[in-house]
Amino acid sequence: MNTIVLTQSGTVATLTINRPEKLNALNRQTLNDLHKSLEQLKSDTSVRCVIITGSGTKAFVAGADIAEFADFNQAEGTALSREGHDLVFTYIEQYPKPVIAAVNGFALGGGLELALSCHIRLFSDTAKVGLPEVTLGLIPGYGGTQRLAQLIGKGKATELICTAEFINAQDALDWGIANALHSPDQLMAQAQAMAERISKNSPIAISHALQVIQAGHAASNSGLLAETQHFGACFTSQDFKEGVNAFLNKRKPDFKGA
Ligand code: COA
Repeated sequence: MNTIVLTQSGTVATLTINRPEKLNALNRQTLNDLHKSLEQLKSDTSVRCVIITGSGTKAFVAGADIAEFADFNQAEGTALSREGHDLVFTYIEQYPKPVIAAVNGFALGGGLELALSCHIRLFSDTAKVGLPEVTLGLIPGYGGTQRLAQLIGKGKATELICTAEFINAQDALDWGIANALHSPDQLMAQAQAMAERISKNSPIAISHALQVIQAGHAASNSGLLAETQHFGACFTSQDFKEGVNAFLNKRKPDFKGA
């Protein structure tokens, strides 16, 4: 199955993450496919703006694929984070064309981190977002520790990461995570309309603008490096084994702090 569906309408390309039965969770294949699609669109002069969304009505992306990393050791966990940054998250942040996240449902963990990497975030008013990694004995490993704090401030970011609670779309708007909310049936039309408005402007100037905004606001390299190292370190704990085992067996975790 193709994990990414690419469509184009005029100058706007839409990439739809297509694993609805797993709530579009990001496994390695999906990250590779997303990277390849973005790489292809980067040099395609007929495309001036990219929208990323999730298939189905329930989820944008429910996070990294927990089943895939359940047996990972520290080195594999560290590599998972580093490769994710390079292939998708930092890659999007540095992309020369505007990337709009159309958040059509749950954006959790790596799903929220994907939206945070995008340049603009439009939400369905039914969306829910959060960083639940600490319920798995992990931390956000795809830039969430850096980009969320940068976007909404350290205090609110720390609250979201440490409570692992989900917030609704209105709170996401109030906190500055979402640029705007739309009804579910209007979300893609509104994303397309914004992308078309952007596309009427000079692509050269837009690309310069993105680079300059990025120059002042890029997620810090030392922050991302620390995130990758600490993410990997989490894979050595019993808490990680307990958290992942609890999720896969649909039960609540019982953390011992070891
Ligand atoms: N990784 C792998 N599989 C996932 C997943 C993830 N991040 N999120 C959901 N899925 C799978 C479920 O295991 C389930 O698969 P199954 O039908 O084979 O059992 C399927 O997607 C549907 O999810 P389910 O949990 O049954 O739906 P729900 O409506 O009860 O709950 C969520 C929805 C989003 C609240 C719940 O799926 C969830 O908490 N997901 C994980 C979020 C998370 O911790 N993300 C961070 C990962 S680092």
